[in-house]
Amino acid sequence: MFNTFGTRFRLTTFGESHGPCIGAVVDGCPSRMALSEDIIQKQLDRRRPGQSSLTTQRSEADRIVILSGVENGLTLGSPIGLMVENADKKPSDYGKIIEVPRPSHADFTYKVKYGILASSGGGRASARETVGRVAGGAIADKLLFDRFGVQIVAWVSSVATVDAYDLSCEMISRKEVDNNEIRCPDDKVAEKMIAAIERAAKRNDSVGGVITCVCRNVPAGWGEPVFGKTTALLAAAMLSIPASRGFEIGSGFAGTRTFGSQNNDMYVKKGKTLGTKTNRSGGIQGGITNGEPIVFRVAFKPTASIAMAQKSSNYRGKSVISMIKGRHDPCVLPRAVPIVEAMAALVLADVGLMAG
Ligand SMILES: Cc1cc2nc3c(=O)[nH]c(=O)nc-3n(C[C@H](O)[C@H](O)[C@H](O)COP(=O)(O)O)c2cc1C
Repeated sequence: MFNTFGTRFRLTTFGESHGPCIGAVVDGCPSRMALSEDIIQKQLDRRRPGQSSLTTQRSEADRIVILSGVENGLTLGSPIGLMVENADKKPSDYGKIIEVPRPSHADFTYKVKYGILASSGGGRASARETVGRVAGGAIADKLLFDRFGVQIVAWVSSVATVDAYDLSCEMISRKEVDNNEIRCPDDKVAEKMIAAIERAAKRNDSVGGVITCVCRNVPAGWGEPVFGKTTALLAAAMLSIPASRGFEIGSGFAGTRTFGSQNNDMYVKKGKTLGTKTNRSGGIQGGITNGEPIVFRVAFKPTASIAMAQKSSNYRGKSVISMIKGRHDPCVLPRAVPIVEAMAALVLADVGLMAG
């Protein structure tokens, strides 16, 4: 149950980071939708490690194999089994975590809860688990585009203290996002972000940042009262991504510093229905989509595993110097972009199918 997400469009992920494979099962995808491995591969390639000097040098091809649920390029309506082999596993990189929990990683909490740790690199807490999310999310993404024309695009909007200007009103495409290694559609700002990551990495340190996501053409009326609000589902989805630390929608936290008169979205006639002049609600009101673009942001912390010497403690309470070996991302943001898009697609496919 806790490895499963969604109600009508349901994703279950499985596998440990250094086990033989990692994957997912998608249940609830309607039949007769065109689907092939290359559609899923496109998004997996954007998540894959070893893409650039800004990401971990662990090198994985992450080739997707569809095991079931698709025949002759069409979904059958049965569970879709998805698998990716773990090729570049190096459990030796993680030998030390048996004695010393990595600061701000999940070793200590997993040990307290389960009394046992996967033999390497975080097991289910590793970002490798998100392979299954991105694969399943690519299917949800295709369903949303084919049926409703929904387009989901996320990009890196800040790294450490370097901010891009607000691009959420512009028609940014995934192609533009992928123009540079950091996945910020503003090339000038991207250069500064890359420099900030490189400066931190040189000192064996890491940095965090924020991803902005926009979902366009989402019909009005999607979302359930009261605990099934689209806002709440998006927040839960985003905060389930490893290293995420914050979620805000529309005017978000900054909106709290304004007056109601400044924050309200005034209605205007748009075609045969109503739209809003501004979009400070972020496309959702009362948990139900209002037809405006859904705009939200997700905060990611600086990567926990750093090779800098830091004073910590082993499991027995003895002071030790923590220095994390292995191949880690100095900043998780560029690889987290397709994960945010995948989780958004999973939520929207779910509420979209529920809306009927
Ligand atoms: C794309 C991506 C890559 C990541 N890479 C690393 C990494 O190389 N090293 C690391 O310590 N954490 C990495 N993380 C974060 C950890 O998986 C996460 O911090 C850990 O599971 C603890 O969970 P929490 O930070 O959500 O509390 C990554 C996260 C994402 C989304």
